[in-house]
Amino acid sequence: MAVRRLHPEQPESFAFSAQNLAWAKREMKKYPKGRQASAVIPLLWKAQEQYDNWLPEPAIRAVADLLDMPYIRVLEVATFYTMFQLAPVGRKAHVQVCGTTPCMLRGAEDIKQVCRRRIAQTAHEVSADGDFSWEEVECLGACVNAPMVQVFSDTYEDLTADSFEALLDAFARGERPVPGPQIARTHAAPAGGQTSLTDVPTATKPGKSRAGTRKTPSKASSKA
Ligand code: FES
Repeated sequence: MAVRRLHPEQPESFAFSAQNLAWAKREMKKYPKGRQASAVIPLLWKAQEQYDNWLPEPAIRAVADLLDMPYIRVLEVATFYTMFQLAPVGRKAHVQVCGTTPCMLRGAEDIKQVCRRRIAQTAHEVSADGDFSWEEVECLGACVNAPMVQVFSDTYEDLTADSFEALLDAFARGERPVPGPQIARTHAAPAGGQTSLTDVPTATKPGKSRAGTRKTPSKASSKA
């Protein structure tokens, strides 16, 4: 993963829109007095959404001022989590390709090759038309559906080079493809159907009948 630094070109200033500021203040009220710093991640995320899906330095400072936090503390959060983009990204999609072991073993390199060919040779470089950008990130928590990518707040899983290209085509047309597995599979259920625990359960608990109801002691046994 690349070192995460602030982009060399920064805007002069950043201010939350009136609507987003009201939202941020509501968010801060969810935490006990003196604990408003706990809202740092949602506020950074909202700032990023407002500023074309990346987070310039003035936005980091604006969030710090709002939460009464030292700038360095907010910068630490913004540079730690790959959910925060520190440089401009593609207008239609910023593709985060998981390159950690399960995804690597299941074809992440093929996905990265498509990114290099269709978006830009180098990660964090915006495509010539300004619509796409990509980067490699660490595990995004969907390893059972490897390989996978995240685009803004959605994940696309069980990819092949071909299905990933189809996703890029859809984004290029301005569509928002349905997130989740890109094969016939329900969430993380076994691909191709259940492969274990397929027998009908036959065991019963002691003192229970097959139907699962407790046996009523007979009069004779209850007297004994
Ligand atoms: S290794 Fe790719 S999602 Fe976990």
